[in-house]
Amino acid sequence: MNALATPADLEAAVAGSAFVQEVTEVTHYTDRLFKFRTKRPASFRFRSGEFVMIGLLIDGKPLYRAYSIASPSWDEELEFFSIKVPDGPLTSHLQKIQPGNAILMKKKPTGTLVNDALTPGKRVYMFSTGTGIAPFASLIRDPETYEKFDQVILTHTCREVAELRYGEELVEATKNDPLIGELAQEKLVHYTSVTREDFPRQGRITDLMASGKLFTDLGVPPIDPAIDRGMICGSMEMLKDTKALLEQFGLTEGANNKPAEFVVERAFVG
Ligand code: A2P
Repeated sequence: MNALATPADLEAAVAGSAFVQEVTEVTHYTDRLFKFRTKRPASFRFRSGEFVMIGLLIDGKPLYRAYSIASPSWDEELEFFSIKVPDGPLTSHLQKIQPGNAILMKKKPTGTLVNDALTPGKRVYMFSTGTGIAPFASLIRDPETYEKFDQVILTHTCREVAELRYGEELVEATKNDPLIGELAQEKLVHYTSVTREDFPRQGRITDLMASGKLFTDLGVPPIDPAIDRGMICGSMEMLKDTKALLEQFGLTEGANNKPAEFVVERAFVG
């Protein structure tokens, strides 16, 4: 069966074990990145920042990969931001989806990049690279984030300038949103850098943090466990290096069952 089967084909193949969702919108940003939106099943609940397993039927069998949900928990649609891997088992097919096609979604969301996994603080840093911005796209559109923190700093570092566009459009739309626009204008800071092209701010976030440039640029004191909280999403190496820096600043890693000062989640690819 074709990977881009109709909703009826998918329903028959998964027999209630997963949701079948119609794609409503697809936007391609670069040859490596695209966004898609789907209808949301009425019974599907999640916490902003969580991920879920997304799939297609490949050669008649469901194939799933973990995707952060990029839309906030109040949104009536679901949004995902994906990499395109030319020979990736799932993304080589997923990148061809069009509005009207359908995808599979397992029923149980999970994840640690949630407000509940952080102890109260004044400022939250959301550190992302590449598609790692997705869970934060959800969290910066959730009023709860602004209830919990006075300042929300979203950092996004990409190889190329064009890869920042999803985040730029997202922040702009968030600041103009009727529900959270006012809060976002007051509290949300978007801090971008690029590593492999000319751009006003260059360098990995870890280098910008280690040199202190991040704090000078933002006009804030260096990270302090008494007031600062962190969330990290990117490649395995990026997680490891950013986590090590936060630990040097004295922050402790938390989880759903043990909230603390920072949390980590891998940006999934495949
Ligand atoms: P760089 O261009 O120096 O590798 P990727 O697409 O490979 O996940 O990379 C996305 C962004 O994350 C790139 O700007 C990349 O920088 C950066 N990056 C890669 N590895 C790390 C790391 N260990 N720590 C911080 N940033 C990283």
